[in-house]
Amino acid sequence: MPTLNWIGKEAVVNHHHQVPFHLLKDVPELACGDPGSGNLIVQGDNLVALKALLPFYAGQVKCIYIDPPYNTGVDERDEKGTRTGWRYSDNVNSAEIREWLGKVVGAEAEDLSRHEKWLCMMYPRLALLKKFLKEDGVLFASIDENEFPSLRLILDELFGATNRAGTIVWKNVTDNNPTNIAIEHEYVLCYAKNKARLPSEWKSTNLAVKTKLLELGEQFIGEFKEPDQRQEQYSKWFRKNKEFLWPFDRYKFIDDGGIFTGSQSVHNPGKEGYRYDILHPVTGKPCAEPMMGYRFPKETAERLREQGRIIFGDDETKIIELKLYVKDYRAKLSSLFELDGRIGTNEIKEIFPDDKRPFDFPKPTDLIEELLSFTTSGDDLILDSFAGSGTTGHAVLKLNKADNQKRRFVLLEMKPQIARDITRERVKRVAEGYANAKGEQVEGLSGGFRFCELGEPLFDERGQIKPSVRFADLARHVYFTETGEPLPDKVGRVTPCAPSSADTQRRARSDAPYSKSPLLGICRGVGIYLLFNGILGDKSANGGNILTRGVLAQLPKFDGQKVIYCAGCLLGKDRLQSERIIVRQTPYEIKVS
Ligand SMILES: C[S@@+](CC[C@H](N)C(=O)[O-])C[C@H]1O[C@@H](n2cnc3c(N)ncnc32)[C@H](O)[C@@H]1O
Repeated sequence: MPTLNWIGKEAVVNHHHQVPFHLLKDVPELACGDPGSGNLIVQGDNLVALKALLPFYAGQVKCIYIDPPYNTGVDERDEKGTRTGWRYSDNVNSAEIREWLGKVVGAEAEDLSRHEKWLCMMYPRLALLKKFLKEDGVLFASIDENEFPSLRLILDELFGATNRAGTIVWKNVTDNNPTNIAIEHEYVLCYAKNKARLPSEWKSTNLAVKTKLLELGEQFIGEFKEPDQRQEQYSKWFRKNKEFLWPFDRYKFIDDGGIFTGSQSVHNPGKEGYRYDILHPVTGKPCAEPMMGYRFPKETAERLREQGRIIFGDDETKIIELKLYVKDYRAKLSSLFELDGRIGTNEIKEIFPDDKRPFDFPKPTDLIEELLSFTTSGDDLILDSFAGSGTTGHAVLKLNKADNQKRRFVLLEMKPQIARDITRERVKRVAEGYANAKGEQVEGLSGGFRFCELGEPLFDERGQIKPSVRFADLARHVYFTETGEPLPDKVGRVTPCAPSSADTQRRARSDAPYSKSPLLGICRGVGIYLLFNGILGDKSANGGNILTRGVLAQLPKFDGQKVIYCAGCLLGKDRLQSERIIVRQTPYEIKVS
């Protein structure tokens, strides 16, 4: 398999192993709604934030969506990094990332091209992201022409080309500027953690919306025999619920055949099509023809007219449309997706009506809902490590409301101002409700989140545990580095090798009940213990952190292999062997990164 090489690669391929573990610091005053809802926003560089989150979520995430800087070469920031145009750096030029590159790559970083810098920035972050995925999880990555080839090659390298699930071409703009090739699309790459574990067919949970609309159509048809009255009643209902109907949020008509929308698919794209007249039913004059003619011959048009499937405008000046019924909607995640990219900007302007330019180029929620509706359901966890304006959080809440599921999100954003004023504020507003640009009150989608910042590292430069580290913090870290799995909530609860649905109940709470016991958990038949900070209630200098006969007698019993992390051990070799104990001395035998 071809691989990509660049200057600086050597310094970053294993860098994610060296990133030190940091603590997460709760900022309760920035939380929203129920902080126990399982949603989380973290402010901080995603490299450090991802490492800090591994002990909570390794192998737990069903879907990752990322929208990293596209590295377009346009950066509207002055020397001091102050915003002159964009709210975020679209290159690898932010002060934080420049400093990070200097540290990791060394002096050579100064000479790297912007593409090499971008690759250095992305590689270790993608390597960490993969560790979060469940065996049947997937990663979606948005990208445009600038870094598409590089991103695909490094994702092939990290995930394996056989786990490439596909590439979506998103037609998001129309470019009528004079040029050679007008670029009117970008990409969403999709990789599976293990393609063999994906279901053979992805079905959208939004089929629930389809079912609902089919039932509703029948109800209206039964209740209102008179077509105008039926349409009027349905229009009222549609206006109230439109926001939750995606991908049916344009299905605003109803007739005897059910609920439908108008489709402009009568145009012949690109080349000369069929030419004939279709007479308007009221004026009797020929309707305006599509510029390149019709896509189908006259006989098809006649058949469609007989079936009542043509929508005419008020007079002949409007090009006809075709009726597209809910019942004919077939959901598939197609490699082609057409959606005006400006919708994302309109959405955010509605939420921040007082700010003329709250965030540049946010993604439309519909795009992310499309990806999530095929790949997640229930209480699946969704991770976005380049959160920006929080579109992913918004999309999760919207989709949950539409299909009645309980998906959870984790959003990471580096810039403090963006994280607090845009990411958090947007998700808060859409969860709680807000007044839009017209001053109308938009009902909240409900849901809440915790907000965290990055705290200090667990260990100092000499590998000593920092004095501020609590038992619960070290417990989570020790359990994760020993087993590669997040710590379960309850003492003694067996951590299954493949997490069960009950495990999705785990929440990122560092004061969970396990913090009360030196037996952290049992994983693959091994009991993991930690003696630290006088967990057994001993307030003396070593606080019961040394394994003695007395301490052993006080430990919760587990009849199997035991790994005990402690500051020292006074038991003989034979006793350790007969008790099936392996001792790991703190802090030297705890992995610090
Ligand atoms: C293209 S924007 C994402 C836009 C987002 N998808 C939306 O719809 O609003 C990229 C975001 O990633 C953030 N970012 C860049 N480098 C980062 C890093 N190392 N860690 C966390 N966030 C980062 C930027 O500050 C910016 O807000």
